[in-house]
Amino acid sequence: MQVLWFRCDVIIPSVSLGILVVSVLIGSFFFLHEIQHEPDTERNCNMAEAAQSNWERYRTEGHQAFVLGYTGEVGKELMKELAAAKLYKRVVLIGRRQVELDPSFGPEFEQKVVDFEKLEEHAEVFEGLDTGYCALGTTRGKAGVKGFVRVDHDYVLIAAEMAKARGCKHFSLVSSQGANKNSSMLYTRTKGQVEEALKVMHFDRISIYRPGVLMCDRTEDRPGERVARVLLKPISYLFPTAITTPTETVARALINNAVAPSERKEEVYENKAIHQLSGTSKLCGSQNYQETSKSK
Ligand SMILES: NC(=O)c1ccc[n+]([C@@H]2O[C@H](COP(=O)([O-])OP(=O)(O)OC[C@H]3O[C@@H](n4cnc5c(N)ncnc54)[C@H](OP(=O)(O)O)[C@@H]3O)[C@@H](O)[C@H]2O)c1
Repeated sequence: MQVLWFRCDVIIPSVSLGILVVSVLIGSFFFLHEIQHEPDTERNCNMAEAAQSNWERYRTEGHQAFVLGYTGEVGKELMKELAAAKLYKRVVLIGRRQVELDPSFGPEFEQKVVDFEKLEEHAEVFEGLDTGYCALGTTRGKAGVKGFVRVDHDYVLIAAEMAKARGCKHFSLVSSQGANKNSSMLYTRTKGQVEEALKVMHFDRISIYRPGVLMCDRTEDRPGERVARVLLKPISYLFPTAITTPTETVARALINNAVAPSERKEEVYENKAIHQLSGTSKLCGSQNYQETSKSK
């Protein structure tokens, strides 16, 4: 059949073959990425394995924490994990609005409403809190370029500085896959710049997490992300650590790492490592991993 200048009986099989080849190449790439062992695989898997005993020890040490971004998707999961694990004597939730907390959360949770534009006027909220979790963030679509940088860069750094001055020893930041201070893209560049600035603040310990596309039932309507999540669902099922991260996986990784003793002052966890720390990585339980561990 001749249609305009090309023939359907030629073009359709060619396009189908092209799509098949590209799919196989992408699938192979993800598969190899999924099964590849990295130098820190064993360390991360061990941290997840030791999580329960680390939780027990950590609880007795009387730590106090704050959470920035607790009303967001990662923040909500983190609160659930913290409420269940009962790791802290006090958890100060710092946000721009008051929300109703789950009644099952213990008395250790306190909400503090602050004006992030005048954070220095609320310095006392950070007093004596030795551990900080930050899952603050907005989007360019919602806040514009300036607003995005203000929240994802400035607010994070101002809060981190104030917390450090008031006793924060360990600061954990939820950044993003692809964060790079030299990136030409605003989002990844901003994330990279925050990471770099935090590293030179000299916390006793700084932990940076770079999750992929967050998988969750987002309360806020973000049509672009909704479509991306639907399209990425099969990839997330077949290759869970490639480009997606469930919010509960991030939350569990944050606390499993925070309770583990670490010899490192600075830690950057890519998406695959986040899955390993959370205890959801199949690689940790694999024969290959166990054999590597035993032979060391
Ligand atoms: N979306 C993704 O797929 C993706 C992927 C990788 C990394 N990340 C990063 O992961 C982090 C957590 O993401 P998420 O999806 O959990 O975030 P989220 O649901 O958008 O929540 C963001 C948090 O930041 C607060 N916030 C936003 N604008 C603010 C402002 N102007 N003043 C004060 N607080 C403000 C929000 O408070 P309100 O509830 O009051 O708005 C909320 O607590 C972010 O840094 C994000 O960039 C996201």
